[in-house]
Amino acid sequence: MDNFTFYSPTYFVFGRGEENHTGKYVKRFGGSKVLIHYGGGSVVRSGLLDRVKASLEQENISYVELGGVRPNPRSGLVYQGIELCRKENVDFILAVGGGSTIDSSKAIAAGTVYDGDFWDFYQGKPVETALPVGTVLTIAAAGSEGSPDSVITLEDGMLKRGATGEGLRPRFSILNPELTQTLPPFQTAAGITDIMAHLFERYFTNTQEVETTDRVIEGLLMAMIHEGPRVIADPDNYEARANIMWAGMIAHNNCCGVGREQDWASHGIEHELSALYDCAHGAGLAVVFPAWMTYTMPHNVMRFAQVASRVWGCQMDFACPERTAREGIEAFKKFLKGIGMPGNFKELGAREEDIPAMAHSVCYGNGGNGTVGGFVKLKEEDVAAIYRLML
Ligand code: NZQ
Ligand code: ZN
Repeated sequence: MDNFTFYSPTYFVFGRGEENHTGKYVKRFGGSKVLIHYGGGSVVRSGLLDRVKASLEQENISYVELGGVRPNPRSGLVYQGIELCRKENVDFILAVGGGSTIDSSKAIAAGTVYDGDFWDFYQGKPVETALPVGTVLTIAAAGSEGSPDSVITLEDGMLKRGATGEGLRPRFSILNPELTQTLPPFQTAAGITDIMAHLFERYFTNTQEVETTDRVIEGLLMAMIHEGPRVIADPDNYEARANIMWAGMIAHNNCCGVGREQDWASHGIEHELSALYDCAHGAGLAVVFPAWMTYTMPHNVMRFAQVASRVWGCQMDFACPERTAREGIEAFKKFLKGIGMPGNFKELGAREEDIPAMAHSVCYGNGGNGTVGGFVKLKEEDVAAIYRLML
């Protein structure tokens, strides 16, 4: 295991009805003038926004609102949010929604207190200070409720890039699984896929002797394999929703990624797809991850065979571990199909002719030096070959 530091200061509040106490937590974490930021309207339709506002009013906290965050959140709204926060002297950003709303909130939080262009943070500048952010989460997926990251798409060129910095970790996050019961099945499934992807990005490592985090990751993957089909069959199943929601946080606040090299090539490969075709991030990952696994499996057959036997229950073939490894990848594909995820470029609306440009951007965009990934360092031609496996 490698040396590491781990600091995850977010205060989590979990369970039924907890969004009605939002005002209390905003106050506890120092907010007196709040920007409530939200998406395309699900929180208005469900009545959540009104409940959150009522709880702020109960604590005599004033607020302004900015809705309209789109999935794969855009830079334009971030600029608007920064302007609004400065004009209104906002001192706390409250994200009410999913990963896109939280990421847009984090971008506004960092940009408001920064003299330059907020996009600098999405080109490699670490975020050191930002306004405090709190979240009321409505979808289990991105893990942004506990992560120091934010992903935004620059409209000029449709570049999807990430920023990171400890200042971006939310001060508090309210997780009520009931709020996820209004999700369409496709979004629920895309969220489960993203959670599993965050676990796999950490699982595929060259670091030796990481049994503790290996076993935590395997356990979380098994929980998703158990709960995924249950929640798709019965969207109102609170317990399944609750287990998925907490897994989404643990999968990405890095408690199971510490002390080991991680990969993250699949996320880079997927971000090109969601930037270009505006697909749901989790749906893009459902197409990317099995292809990435197929391509990189020869690098460490035993690690793939291990996950196949421990997580997917495949019989270990000691004479031919590659066969076990392949069975594991097939089991993953079957699972994804079973929860309604796409399996190829066509189902995503992606085009073969865009492969060379996307492969180049994965390896050289975002300050890249020509390769992507920690487990296997992929060059542009490898990434292009992985895209072709998705056709
Ligand atoms: O906008 P509204 O109307 O709210 O609708 C949303 C949106 O259409 C809908 N939705 C969310 N909660 C709902 C609901 N509909 C009904 N009932 C509810 N309770 O679902 C759609 C997707 O929402 P979004 O916020 O985009 O989903 P998600 O949480 O998957 O976020 C995806 C974004 O997060 C980024 C992705 O790249 C993508 O841009 N990521 C952020 C990370 C981070 N900050 O740490 C890490 C991830 O790997 C990921 O890259
Ligand atoms: Zn993700």
